[in-house]
Amino acid sequence: MSVKQIVILISGGGSNMAAIVKTAKRDDWQARYGAKIAAVISNKADAKGLLFAGQQGIATEVLDHKAFASREAFDAALMALIDRFGSPDAPVLLVLAGFMRILTPGFVQHYAGRLLNIHPSLLPAFPGLHTHQRAIDAGCKFVGATVHQVTAELDHGPILAQAVVPVLPDDTAESLAARVLTQEHLIYPQAIADLLSKK
Ligand code: GAR
Repeated sequence: MSVKQIVILISGGGSNMAAIVKTAKRDDWQARYGAKIAAVISNKADAKGLLFAGQQGIATEVLDHKAFASREAFDAALMALIDRFGSPDAPVLLVLAGFMRILTPGFVQHYAGRLLNIHPSLLPAFPGLHTHQRAIDAGCKFVGATVHQVTAELDHGPILAQAVVPVLPDDTAESLAARVLTQEHLIYPQAIADLLSKK
């Protein structure tokens, strides 16, 4: 299956999304891989990243999870929205970029093999939230970020790329998060480009 329509899901700042958009433009993913960033979708209306995406001429959508009675109902509506941007000839590659929602198994199954996530730890260490503080508390000397294929289990799945960041003596969760984030901005676009080049 040759994925062509990239849909990015965000919940907040969207700096990973912005890094992906900038790389796609700089390296002309359209000409090189026939791939296009088709839409950026957020579950939060105030997600800052929506503004940047709109300014780049990318379609933006908001689907507020609070408007749905169940996780299943939200995921079904999200799936329908996402799939509007794809077609049998140009299937969607779904990229989670700081999308802070747990996905139902049905949703994950629907995008099996074409669903990516970035997580701010060296998985399988520290799945879940507060990764940097947990790593500092555990006395880790190195932390990092992981790009992986998404499976039904939270923050698990085949690893596509990782970046390693040393923990400095005075690091706080915030300072560490900022340094890891700069690495995320490098490995996520690269991992997507690698995937597109193989399809
Ligand atoms: C990133 O650090 C990303 O790895 C993390 O949220 C941040 C989003 O930043 N994702 C997770 O924790 C997912 N489990 P961004 O909105 O600026 O890209």
